[in-house]
Amino acid sequence: MKSGPKSKAMFDRAAKSISGGVSSNFRYWGDNSTLIVKKAKGAYLWDQDDKRYVDYRLGFGPVVLGHARDEINEHVSEAIKMGTTFAMTNEYEIRVAEKIRKMTGVDLVRMTNTGTEATMGAIRIARAFTGRDKVLKFDGAYHGFHDYSLWNTYPPTTGVGYRNSPFLIPQGSGIPRSIGDLMYSLPFNDKEILETKLKERWQDIACIIVEPLLGNQASIMPQDGFLDFIREQCTKYGIVMIMDEVKTGFRIAKGGAQEYFNVKADLVTYAKCLGNGFPAAAIGGQKHIMKEVGPGKIPHGGTFGANIVAMAAADKTLDLIESGELDKVNAHGKLLRAGWKKILDKAGVPYVIQGPDAMPGIVFTEEPVCKEYKHWADGDHDTYDAIINKCIENGVMPDYDSREPWFISSCHTDKDADFVLDVFENAVKDVLK
Ligand SMILES: Cc1ncc(COP(=O)(O)O)c(C=O)c1O
Repeated sequence: MKSGPKSKAMFDRAAKSISGGVSSNFRYWGDNSTLIVKKAKGAYLWDQDDKRYVDYRLGFGPVVLGHARDEINEHVSEAIKMGTTFAMTNEYEIRVAEKIRKMTGVDLVRMTNTGTEATMGAIRIARAFTGRDKVLKFDGAYHGFHDYSLWNTYPPTTGVGYRNSPFLIPQGSGIPRSIGDLMYSLPFNDKEILETKLKERWQDIACIIVEPLLGNQASIMPQDGFLDFIREQCTKYGIVMIMDEVKTGFRIAKGGAQEYFNVKADLVTYAKCLGNGFPAAAIGGQKHIMKEVGPGKIPHGGTFGANIVAMAAADKTLDLIESGELDKVNAHGKLLRAGWKKILDKAGVPYVIQGPDAMPGIVFTEEPVCKEYKHWADGDHDTYDAIINKCIENGVMPDYDSREPWFISSCHTDKDADFVLDVFENAVKDVLK
């Protein structure tokens, strides 16, 4: 896929002032293909060359109610007349905290600006609360851009040691090796390995941070009982269970993954859909832990946390989600899945479609079910990438990166689904011929 002339010219301009022309490594698609956005509305996004895309990236997931929603923009515009940042508590923040509690069942919250800040804060709280230092995560899981997350996010699948205690591989340079000494990373969905590690090492482990489904591995689902098992083991060993709901929160159900999978974590992190694209995020959790966050106890702060822009956006976003908009999200996801199934069955490629309807993922693999990172990693990404490339060329934009699921919004229509499936079918035919 090549960007149009205006996008290309603007990318070249960007690259003179911004490292690599992008403000996040994940946004770089190549010097000749990185698109520059012009505008977005509802389910659609236009690039600088006025090419329209049905958008299933939705900014890496947050825009669950569609781009530039009038109700949210108007609410924010009205709210910011009072100012934006005070380093003091405000009423919007209180309202948002009350709504998060009601919708998710957490007892107390602290606002942050991003998912990265939320997971970093939750890990700090878990360490302070338990007096232990180690963090256990799962291979392939991404929990933000801080140093306690970027281990085994995208490791090679061979030469990484014994399955029960794989080597820890940082995502890139600049992450101190010594941080790796404070981490464990294990295969997702493997109760036996987790049980063994906990039996041996529970005294050191402050928290298990788990994304309830692997949103960075095309939505690999937890197998029956896996999240319950983590819950049980955390209770047994006094380990804090952190559910990272940055992608799933306010998307897969009003109450997020805790509701969807009927599991209650000790701490939960929210971001993305909380503000429908405005940078709102939060740490939520059970009272006996969250009440310890405070001066002289567990440090947490930040100048911009709970600013009016984010809180007003979250205030209206949560109202719209509460009013039932996720039903439209799920209905559209179902339509796409049914269409993909027909197309891929006809094409005769081995595939798995996985994840909840609000964020389904596709992997070309012989595996009957993807259960862990390695199943995704061993998939046929070249074929998937080629198909997605064609989709983007023809106006349908899931993420270019095969690790991402398709993010659905409540603005995607049945008519969009017809168009999208048509484009997808032609792309499949073209690539497989
Ligand atoms: C599961 C998960 N946790 C944390 C993060 C980090 O969130 P942010 O990009 O808002 O810092 C992400 C981002 O994609 C994520 O998917």
